[in-house]
Amino acid sequence: MKKFYIETFGCQMNVHDSEKVIGTLVSRGYEQVPSVEGADLVLYNTCSIRDKAEQKVFARLQDFKRNHKGKTFGVLGCVAQQEGERIFEKAPHVSLVCGSASYNALPQLLTQIETGNRRVTGLSLDTEDTFETPVTRRDNPHRAYITIIEGCDKSCAYCVVPFTRGPERSRTAESVLAEARELAAAGYTEIQLLGQNVNSYRDPSPDGIGFAELLRRVGQVEGLRRVRFTTSHPRDFGKDIVDAITENPVLCNFVHLPVQSGSSRVLSAMQRLYTRDEYMRRIDWLKNSPRNIALSTDMIVGFPGESEEDFQQTLELMDEVEYDSIFSFKYSQRPNTPALGLTDHIAEEEKGRRLTILQEKQRGIQLRRNADYIGNVEEVMVEGWNKATGQWIGRTSQNKTLNFARVEGEVDLTGSYVAVRVLRAGPNSLVGESVRVANAVQ
Ligand code: 5AD
Ligand code: SF4
Repeated sequence: MKKFYIETFGCQMNVHDSEKVIGTLVSRGYEQVPSVEGADLVLYNTCSIRDKAEQKVFARLQDFKRNHKGKTFGVLGCVAQQEGERIFEKAPHVSLVCGSASYNALPQLLTQIETGNRRVTGLSLDTEDTFETPVTRRDNPHRAYITIIEGCDKSCAYCVVPFTRGPERSRTAESVLAEARELAAAGYTEIQLLGQNVNSYRDPSPDGIGFAELLRRVGQVEGLRRVRFTTSHPRDFGKDIVDAITENPVLCNFVHLPVQSGSSRVLSAMQRLYTRDEYMRRIDWLKNSPRNIALSTDMIVGFPGESEEDFQQTLELMDEVEYDSIFSFKYSQRPNTPALGLTDHIAEEEKGRRLTILQEKQRGIQLRRNADYIGNVEEVMVEGWNKATGQWIGRTSQNKTLNFARVEGEVDLTGSYVAVRVLRAGPNSLVGESVRVANAVQ
């Protein structure tokens, strides 16, 4: 049993966890294959943040069983943690169930499977460990993720994460910085620091540093041109983070600060630990920076008890902030969460109506905001090229897609930084022309 296939759903934390799981397996002599067909071991890294995630996982597992008899199956990630041993009952062909808080135990769990054990679990949430591996298999040669904090100690009323990823555990600053230096030496120019709540980062070493200082230090690692971070919780988002961004252009001028609702009443019911005014104070810090920091957010519509007036406050907040992008969702009930006890549920149809209104408003805002960039020269990192349009795909420090014309036969610019003048703007991307290809810095 030496070949494995892995399928990943969910957030960037999950994507990066899979990179570490792949590294762990590869260092044990396994080989990754690109399809289920060629694999002996099939791993499924799952997400349970919204909707009917569990049903989808069981449907996929049935599909695996029907078409791929005789293989060993493992369920990882948030649905593994949430459903635990129930997975063996509903899908008896599964041999391994392991949540992210137990990935350190993967080598031992794999040994048990290799010796023929048919029911292996890693489900403890009682951990102080973070998942560090000597080998991480990264696919993108230019942009790399680094986990700085795992788990979550907040208890937002709608959210399953505290139950699936366990308590907050920060890595030492020393190991984060060592990884950043290694990546820079290996040619990576962009780093993304990851955590469910990066702002509550606290170096566990004596006199440990907080997030803003870690960000400053990562921003000083030689060779790095862009440092991003996600995701932030407004409660722990200090002005020192804005100051760090203002001081160092390597720290990208892009901040994702999920607000969830524009109504203090709903925020309180959500147990978000901040009011609308407190959130807006953070937005003011960001807007007052000379860096022109792009802003994005997450919004939930139709949380139990959300009135039309509450929803209107959300729309007003969007006009006030003018986000560069948002992720918006209809509230969905999740197992174990405090909001399950709330009674005043909003009809699905009404949630859908609010979501459409919100998304249409945001489309107009993005169109206006992006139009402001026409005529600007922005530096993009080239991510590849689009065969259909014949354009290079670029990303600005502000996380905007800025595509530009590709000249037939041009050297491959992927991974390089190019100055591009913005010519046109749509709601979701910008189009431009490179100012001078000779300027490209490898
Ligand atoms: N229902 C709808 N959206 C949710 N999110 C998290 N839990 C739920 C839920 N139960 C959204 C939040 C969060 C993003 C990652 O997913 O907006 O910030
Ligand atoms: Fe999904 Fe949340 Fe788990 Fe990420 S942490 S995989 S978003 S449930």
